[in-house]
Amino acid sequence: MNANELREAHARHVLTPWGVQGALNPPMIVRGAGSFLYDAEGNRYLDLASGLVSVNLGHSHPAVVNAIAEQASRLCYAAPSFFNDARAELATELAKLMPWSESGRVFFTTGGAEANEDAVKMVRMATGRSKVLTAYRSFHGSSPGAGTFTGENRRWATEPGIPGVVHFWTPYPYRSPFNTNDPKVEVERALVHLELVITYENAASIAAILLEPVVGSNGVIVYPEGYLQGVRALCDRYGIMLIADEVMTGFGRTGATFAHTRIGFVPDLVTFAKGVTSSYLPLGGVMVRESLAAYFDDHALMCGHTYSGHPMSVAAGLATLRVYREEGLYERGREIETWLRSGLEELQRKHPVIGEVRGIGSFFALELVKDRATREPLVEWQGKNPGPMPAFFSELRKRGAYTFGRYNVVMVAPPLTVTRAELDEGLRALDAAFAALSVPA
Ligand SMILES: Cc1ncc(COP(=O)(O)O)c(C=O)c1O
Repeated sequence: MNANELREAHARHVLTPWGVQGALNPPMIVRGAGSFLYDAEGNRYLDLASGLVSVNLGHSHPAVVNAIAEQASRLCYAAPSFFNDARAELATELAKLMPWSESGRVFFTTGGAEANEDAVKMVRMATGRSKVLTAYRSFHGSSPGAGTFTGENRRWATEPGIPGVVHFWTPYPYRSPFNTNDPKVEVERALVHLELVITYENAASIAAILLEPVVGSNGVIVYPEGYLQGVRALCDRYGIMLIADEVMTGFGRTGATFAHTRIGFVPDLVTFAKGVTSSYLPLGGVMVRESLAAYFDDHALMCGHTYSGHPMSVAAGLATLRVYREEGLYERGREIETWLRSGLEELQRKHPVIGEVRGIGSFFALELVKDRATREPLVEWQGKNPGPMPAFFSELRKRGAYTFGRYNVVMVAPPLTVTRAELDEGLRALDAAFAALSVPA
């Protein structure tokens, strides 16, 4: 099929996630190498989003590609009830990254949504409590359970959802739900609010609090200092398990192995996906502290998937973790953070539409506004009218760069392997796309 025929076939036969199907017109991607994607017409795009904030190694890293090929020639599949060599090795490597002195174990899933659902099942089984608290303005996956955990409009299609899930507000300094401009006051009020929710929901019925340590697709909101440590303290006070959803923030994205390492708090379970294989193959999982995992030594673990710990995926994961370690990529996000912060703040000085630049590691967002003084969003959050955003992303692609956003937020999260020269190219493309955006058509 030629490029046009492929486009027609795709539009006719594929349902694409999250969009109004009639309005779709993305490039037809056929190849990836390093920081770049290539379409069927031979256009090249700098991937400023690392896929879905997940291709942390850049595209087609040969060490992972070779490991996948090697595994495919040896063993493509074995039922998860068997033990498997690559799975044992990957779990051992993951155990080295866990935050617990007592160590821990991993339950493998196919992706992030399953990981969050399985984490919640595990804490419900082990604690005998049923309720789960999660944040508004969070995303935890699209399946009915994970969709119920989600705290924004991607939850609505799952409603009424699964029982026992209660949402609460977390800090968001640029648009404080707690009516303050002072991050310290924001943290204090957010923790008072959370404790009220806990007590009014009956603390003894709450199995877990599930949180993204840095809010991801809802706008890269970095919680002010002390918030997550405060949540940890509340969990300790009320015997509640803390689950960190590190699906987007894991594996070097924030300039450390995990966001909880960088931020300095200790969850009881950590869910992961995306970066564990640099998204080359589907894999997710739940890391569980040993004292909790041991519960399942004499109780059945009632979780399982045909693809739990799929040999191909875990082989890809093992190779990916090796590259992160050997190429120093867990920490490289700190260098990228310096470049991104200064480059994006320079763009902000030039383009009044950029209300806030925020981020950590190789994980940034630009929040766009109509007016910096009032902070009125350029397009309404969760609104139906995308305004100039599709035109902005199209302008960006014309200048050889790709990223995605939601409503008035643009994500900037390049692979951890990005070079300074590539990043500068991306910043120039963003600059030109913003310039085009502010010129009336
Ligand atoms: C924080 C977070 N949790 C969970 C998920 C869901 O992961 P998956 O799409 O692999 O089910 C995502 C996906 O973007 C995510 O960003």
